[in-house]
Amino acid sequence: MRKNNRKIMMAGAAVAAVFSIATIAAGEPKSGYLSAEPETQAMQDDDFSNPAMLVTDYGGDLWSTADGDSGKSCEDCHGDAADSMKGVKTRYPTYYQPWGKMINLELRINECRKDNQKAKAWKYESKEMLGMASYIGYQSRGMPMAVDIGGKATPFFTKGKEFYYERRGQLDMACSHCHEDNSGNMIRANLLTEGQINGFPTYRLKWSGVGTLHRRFKGCNDQVRAIPYERGSDEYVNLELYLAWRGRGLAVETPSVRN
Ligand code: HEC
Ligand code: HEC
Repeated sequence: MRKNNRKIMMAGAAVAAVFSIATIAAGEPKSGYLSAEPETQAMQDDDFSNPAMLVTDYGGDLWSTADGDSGKSCEDCHGDAADSMKGVKTRYPTYYQPWGKMINLELRINECRKDNQKAKAWKYESKEMLGMASYIGYQSRGMPMAVDIGGKATPFFTKGKEFYYERRGQLDMACSHCHEDNSGNMIRANLLTEGQINGFPTYRLKWSGVGTLHRRFKGCNDQVRAIPYERGSDEYVNLELYLAWRGRGLAVETPSVRN
């Protein structure tokens, strides 16, 4: 009891130190796009000025390049991605029977490489994975995010939700403290958004490059001086499921541009 009170007081102090005002976010989910600078929005709006399109195009090249012991390209089996991969991004993470747990798009791409293409898995944050995840995500642009959290997905959804509300790190803060209680407020030099995931992989000006959602998770864990998890870990995939549901209905913006 005493220990608990102390924890809450410490967290209160940390929150007061970083935020000027506190408001409660409510209503429909809002994309980070809405809080971006007009120049940043313009970069995303125009495929020719969107720096992430280079990476996405590279994914398109890989799509039609033969690889692995099958000697086949993705296209040889899946055909035109504009048809076969349309809407795929909107329903990931999804329950994956062979694992008995959830799988996200990046991990699913690697499963297919190993099982069907008979090729080596790509590193999670590699140029190849960023390219392919962006290219597949791009085929769902404008479509509403719509993950299924029923049936076998439910226990994983619950874990992801718990993670979201759990205090962690030296600052003892949960995701919700920044992205729910304080979205719309300034934190240091940044305007806090709802931390929605509909634009990933995303081009971040701060990264000068494209990064995965799990890279972002690590960055946000670092901000509160918490030990981050591995990209592709169960913890992050479950968290991704919760966030995909939280932003359900938001249009896919892959590849987005953010500060
Ligand atoms: C030899 C044929 C073959 C090749 C090559 C292949 N795939 Fe697949 N892929 C499949 C089949 C079959 C499935 C259906 C499920 C399964 O058995 O894995 C699938 C499923 C998928 C899915 C899940 C789709 C969904 O609706 O949820 C993704 C994503 C995917 N593949 C991506 C890729 C990518 C990216 C490549 C190239 C790097 C690739 N695949 C290469 C045969 C192939
Ligand atoms: C100390 C405050 C803080 C905490 C706690 C925090 N974040 Fe963030 N997060 C930020 C800031 C600042 C940004 C960049 C501005 C923005 O989009 O809000 C950001 C951005 C994001 C984005 C990118 C949004 C977009 O539109 O591209 C996601 C996703 C995100 N955070 C998820 C999380 C998750 C999940 C957690 C919990 C593990 C978390 N954040 C915890 C401060 C925080």
